[in-house]
Amino acid sequence: MTLEELEQGKAASLAEIAAAADAATVEKLRVKYVGRNGSIPALIKGMKDVPKEDRPAFGKAVQAWRAEVEAALAAKGTGADAQAGAPADVDATLPGRWAAPGTAHPLSRVIADAARIFGKLGFTVADGPDIESPFNNFTALNTPPHHPSQDRSDTFWLAADALLRTQTSPVQIRTMLAAKKPPVRVICPGRTYRRDTTDATHSANFHQIEGLYVDTKPVSLADLKSVLAYFAKEMMGNDGAGVRFRPHFFPFTEPSVEVDFTCHVCKGKGCNVCKQSGWIEIAGAGMVDPRVFGHVGWNPAEVSGYAFGFGVERIAMIKYGIPDIRWLYENDLRFLRQLA
Ligand code: PHE
Repeated sequence: MTLEELEQGKAASLAEIAAAADAATVEKLRVKYVGRNGSIPALIKGMKDVPKEDRPAFGKAVQAWRAEVEAALAAKGTGADAQAGAPADVDATLPGRWAAPGTAHPLSRVIADAARIFGKLGFTVADGPDIESPFNNFTALNTPPHHPSQDRSDTFWLAADALLRTQTSPVQIRTMLAAKKPPVRVICPGRTYRRDTTDATHSANFHQIEGLYVDTKPVSLADLKSVLAYFAKEMMGNDGAGVRFRPHFFPFTEPSVEVDFTCHVCKGKGCNVCKQSGWIEIAGAGMVDPRVFGHVGWNPAEVSGYAFGFGVERIAMIKYGIPDIRWLYENDLRFLRQLA
């Protein structure tokens, strides 16, 4: 083959490729020109028969042919898709449509984490309804009718005998009534309702997680502290976390405490998040009041236990650094994606 014939062959091959109307034709031309037994590799194999002095120019021309054919084939579509037989009007080089993967909401994550952490300590998850009786929400929890929390300005009363629970503590009562006898070891996550005006830190509808452990063997405040200390380390991902009890009052626990965790941001040194104290208030807790046992028919001389309760939003806000509780309910994807 002369150089001139070679140039003619190149022009013909490029014209053929340019005219190819579908992927199958493009593929056929690829095989014909640059495939293993294609005409261009054959020319390269035949180089030895070309007179020595012509070889450099001939070799250059063949390589140029090959490069141009490959570029022309590539311009017709990517090899893989073209070979799969994609129709010519499908541009297989366009990026695909990206499916946005869903993720658990921060509140769901805190609840799932708590269930996992307390699960390792033998706690199971109990459930109760949002609409409660005044007995379960107040009376059995040793909260008298004149207590301010029962007031219409604090509680959503639906009827004289029905209200939206103001705390998850009524699930304590349900759990003990259902169990008939100790031991019980449960956590109860759920929605709670209070007549609060919504602002950056308050919501009329929020979530709590209750904990209750009652046994016939003596249960102590030290048991409560060790369980909450373990929870603090695991939930906040802070191996050095400790807990601090401060005296408090709840009608259904005696003694009652407020529970602080070591600030996970400064590890107790003092920073803006913990207002320089090194501690962050997390939960309410205490030993189950004998009167509560009386309301479920258990003998306070034979059983003892502890209870605790904390806000899911509060933990989520502290853990993920969320400054406004309302962001947790607005379902703004710009916010949720940051926590994914
Ligand atoms: N129910 C209490 C509250 O909502 C928290 C609590 C639960 C306190 C259990 C003691 C024991 O503030």
